[in-house]
Amino acid sequence: MSFNKDFVWGAATASYQVEGAAFEDGKGLNIWDVFSSEEGHVYEGHTGETGCDQYHRYKEDVQLMKEMGIRAYRFSLSWSRILPEGTGKVNEAGVDYYNRLIDALLEAGIEPYVTLYHWDLPYALHLQGGWMNPASPEWFYEYAALCAQRFSDRVRFFFTLNEPQCILALGYGNGEHAPGLKTGPNDYFRIWYNLLKVHGRGVQALRENQKQPLQVGMASCGGLFSPAGENAADVEAARRATFGLMDDSLFSAAWDVAFWADPLFFGRYPEDVQEKFGKYLPAITEEDRAVITQPLDFFGMNMYNCVPVRADEKGDPVRVKRYDGFPRTANGWPATPEVTYWGPKFLYERYKKPVYVTENGLSCHDWVSVDGKVHDPGREDFLRRYLKELKKGISDGTDVRGYFAWSLLDNFEWSAGYKERFGLIYVDYRTGERIRKDSSRLYQQIIAENGENL
Ligand code: BGC
Repeated sequence: MSFNKDFVWGAATASYQVEGAAFEDGKGLNIWDVFSSEEGHVYEGHTGETGCDQYHRYKEDVQLMKEMGIRAYRFSLSWSRILPEGTGKVNEAGVDYYNRLIDALLEAGIEPYVTLYHWDLPYALHLQGGWMNPASPEWFYEYAALCAQRFSDRVRFFFTLNEPQCILALGYGNGEHAPGLKTGPNDYFRIWYNLLKVHGRGVQALRENQKQPLQVGMASCGGLFSPAGENAADVEAARRATFGLMDDSLFSAAWDVAFWADPLFFGRYPEDVQEKFGKYLPAITEEDRAVITQPLDFFGMNMYNCVPVRADEKGDPVRVKRYDGFPRTANGWPATPEVTYWGPKFLYERYKKPVYVTENGLSCHDWVSVDGKVHDPGREDFLRRYLKELKKGISDGTDVRGYFAWSLLDNFEWSAGYKERFGLIYVDYRTGERIRKDSSRLYQQIIAENGENL
């Protein structure tokens, strides 16, 4: 079996990374507006104030996607563009923008996949404690309900949160991301618990206000592992590593897939999490369990790389050191195509939901060549290799419904600012000009062939 004829070939972005127009048309401040304006947080003081200016150039971007044959665009809504204070008064100009974008996509035959929250919390809510506030699930309910009322007549696919892992570990763990806090274990697990409920209330809000039956899930991430050898013991070790704590730190707890997904799908904390951090974990009440375990339609997972492990004598996973000179992307991440084989397989086996690869891609040192084009052979090779592994997994029986390249455009890479270029399309930030990279042509061809020749 190969890619289904309805396979969703997509590309993804996020509001703060591409929209720009940070202070236009009534948008409220969000935590990234504030964080990036403060010295020392983002590479060379870059901010998302202008970004890729998609707010003004969305038609051009939709046209480029159409040219490429992209079937679905995953983008996020800026909460503070829609509700400047996070709750209460609606900014109709913000709603109009998303209506225009959605309509343009549909007109071009591109299915919108909407992420409700990709890290840009309204600053007004941060001032009330942000995700630490036990009322945060209700704030999110109000926002998600509004989005369903306004957009779900045309949007069928929604993600609640993008990577709560990063929200917690980078936003409130090591402070690398907005709001830049470093919390202790009590606050850390409280935020985690709130985020589980935020997600659940988001699902409820969508379903209770939907204008048509919706497909709802999360776009998650986490530490993924692959077997170092081709033997059953190593495969089992990789599976255990994927769904288990690899050390005692709070930071790495956030990357354990089961830390988030077991509560969502099974309504309980994983045993090792309970054992190690039990004294900090809020007890799940029956009422909260019902919220947290709202039925989901799929497992969305952002996948970039994985760590090889082998089994020791007891069968426990042990990390295998990578050889010297191992292939790495421009920002130093290892290139490990097998992640799109093992990641979806392990997730599908454990949670029994169709999988979407909601992000995958790499940053390269791209620039405009003397011929005026942008050649990115590294990205072409990466795309081929990762999609080949994805295809192999599908032929082996893993139910994967879609793949979203990260990213459609070069964009604001959080604390790395504009230094990292992840796009299939090059952006000249001085002018906003877009140039299709070679990889976008390869992706176009793969889509046209439905991955037949990978
Ligand atoms: C995030 C994106 C980010 C990408 C590359 C993911 O963790 O969802 O917003 O740009 O990785 O770092």
